[in-house]
Parts: sequence; structure tokens; C-alpha cells
Amino acid sequence: MAPRAVLSRIPPEIATPADYASFARERMDEAAWAWLTGGAGDGRTARRNAEAFDDLLLTARLLRDMSAAHTRLELFGRTLDHPILLAPIANHMLFHPDGELATAAAAAALGAPMVVSSQANHRIEDIAAQPGAHLWFQLYIQPDREFTAALVPRAEAAGYQALVLTADAPVGALRAGIALPAGLGPVNLAGMRSLPPHHGTPGQPPLFDSDLVAAAPTWADIVWLRGLTRLPILLKGVMTPDDAARAIDAGLDGLIVSNHGGRILDGQPATIEALPTIAEIVAKRVPILLDGGVRRGGDIFRALALGADAVLIGRAYMLALAAAGAPGVAHVIHLLRAELEATMIATGCATLSEIESFLVQR
Ligand code: FNR
Repeated sequence: MAPRAVLSRIPPEIATPADYASFARERMDEAAWAWLTGGAGDGRTARRNAEAFDDLLLTARLLRDMSAAHTRLELFGRTLDHPILLAPIANHMLFHPDGELATAAAAAALGAPMVVSSQANHRIEDIAAQPGAHLWFQLYIQPDREFTAALVPRAEAAGYQALVLTADAPVGALRAGIALPAGLGPVNLAGMRSLPPHHGTPGQPPLFDSDLVAAAPTWADIVWLRGLTRLPILLKGVMTPDDAARAIDAGLDGLIVSNHGGRILDGQPATIEALPTIAEIVAKRVPILLDGGVRRGGDIFRALALGADAVLIGRAYMLALAAAGAPGVAHVIHLLRAELEATMIATGCATLSEIESFLVQR
């Protein structure tokens, strides 16, 4: 059965990002749905990311002055209208024919920085040509270090404003894969020398004997990457205070508390559970972003209260892309911002810096 066309107008029953799921599912084939919504192992961490927000209760405060309220923040020298960014997700063309171009247009219209995946289906230069785009580039330190190094000036020349180094998926082949249709692939990685994937299946050598593991990056590679560029570099995948401290010591400029949406190591805590002790050790030395399970503006509030400066959303905007294209992505960002504002009003917070931990109780 051919997928149904994307929504030409957004129906009124879509009142929160999660409402996009059923509309998206009708428009996606089974494999793409499973790849997008799935997690590693039994999906415990993927579920926990979202569910852990439910256990955090909010404190209402009455009658406070909101006349000058706003959601602005400063991040790496730029003023953002709100603390919502789009997380890097591979292969947007699996979900919409315009792929990353549609996402970038929506992000630009709503003032949300977009982190472009190194496994995007469009050239990073073409994505950057979207008017008003504020883009960061996500990369892995690939076994082909020379190729990795060459991506950095390329992203810089295209106008990308920060690098996001994803470090929690060193053996990429372990991730639940998807067979990409012919003609669709990671165009920005064309020409890269890659090692054979390892699926951990019988007949393959033990994972520890594979070249992939031997070539996986270490902290020494962070120092190497740091020396390649003056762009801010954020480390994505941080889940412990120890790794947070090491990243700062290595000269990195920001952290993304993330467990890859629960797609790598099933059994990890939710990111919102990992955040407080990380925020404590970081002590505002560098910005902290968080992703994983953010589905409501109230979740953004909880993350900010527990020490994040901003959040990224992943599956929430991809479902909207699949259902309604660029207008859907824009709508999700708008809804989350509106929900965040409503939460700030009800809790008496006129600015993001007033969102403090005592407003959230377990
Ligand atoms: C991802 N994620 C991801 N991360 C990354 O650094 N590079 C990538 O290419 C991808 N690709 C990707 C594909 C799909 C289908 C998913 C669901 C996720 C992880 C992503 O950036 C982010 O960490 C999570 O999606 C955040 O969790 P939520 O918001 O999806 O719950």
C-alpha cells in the first residue's frame, strides 16, 4: 500500500505533539515506523525517558508579575527566542520527500536551531541554503579520521555554528538498522572508507575482535578534534558527572545529556534522572542541553528546573514531519513553546532563569 499523502492542513484534534503519532503512522511503512519509534533491547530506557518526567510534580505560584515575561536565552553568543532545538536524526527523506530541507525551513521559521545529522540525506550545504537557518552539525569520529577531519571545515564553510560530537554510539552497526531505499543514503559521507558493519550475529567474529571496536574513538580523539576548529563543540551522550567533568577538562564547550533516545544501551536511567548530578558538577561552567522523552512544554520546564539550559526534541518533530511536512514541524515547535509559556505563567516564572529546582518535586 502506498503511503498516504501528508496532511494538507493541520486538523484541530492535533493539540499537542504526541497527537501527531497516529497521523504519522498512517503515512509510514512498518519498517520506518519501527526504526523511528524503537529503542535498544526491550525499549526500557526509551520508555523511561518519557515516563520519568511524569514523576516530577510542578509547584503552582499565584499572582506574580508576568508583564515582561519571555523565553529568551543566550547560547554560544547568540540570542535564541526559546530553548527548543531539533536533535540530529538520520534519514529525514524516509519520512518526507523534502527531508532535511523541510525540517530546516520549519526550524528557521520558528527560530529553533537544528542539529543536522551527519547521516542526513541532503548535502549540508543545501540544508544551509534555507533562508534564516541556524544550524549545528552533528558528527561521529569515524574510523576514517581523515574523512572526519575534512567534514569540520566543510561544515564551518557552510555556516554551521557549532559541532555536536555524538560519542554514545561508538559501534554504529549495533543500532537497530533500516534498509534504505535505493538512491537514499548519507550523501555527506560519500567517499568515506568504512569498516564492515557488525550485527553481533552468529557467524561473525566476536565484537571485541572486530576492527570497528579497535577504531572506536577515545578521549585522545577529543583533544584532536578540539584542535581542528574554533567552533563550539558539544559532547552528546553524557550521562554521568565523571564524563561531564572530563569533557570540560578536554576543552569542550557544552554537553548534551542524552542516551540517544534509549537506542544504544537499554537499562540506562532516563536523561532527566541523570541531569541533576551532572548539573551539580558542571556548576554552570558550560551550557547543558538535554534530550530524550521531551514531549510537552512542561517537560522542558522540568529539564530547565533541574539544570538544563535548553532541550532538544527528536521523535516528536519527526512524527510531525511524517504527518504534515514542514508545517507540522513548525507546529510542534510552536506547541511546545506555548506549553512552556503556560507552565511558566502557572508557576510564576517570568524568565527561564527563574525556573529553579524548588518548583519541581519528586
Ligand atoms: C536518532 N538520534 C541520532 N543522534 C545522533 O547524534 N545522530 C543521528 O544520526 C541520530 N539518528 C537518530 C535516528 C532516529 C530514528 C532516532 C529516533 C534518534 C538520537 C537523537 O539525536 C536524540 O538523541 C533522541 O532522538 C532524543 O530522544 P527523543 O526526543 O526522540 O525521545
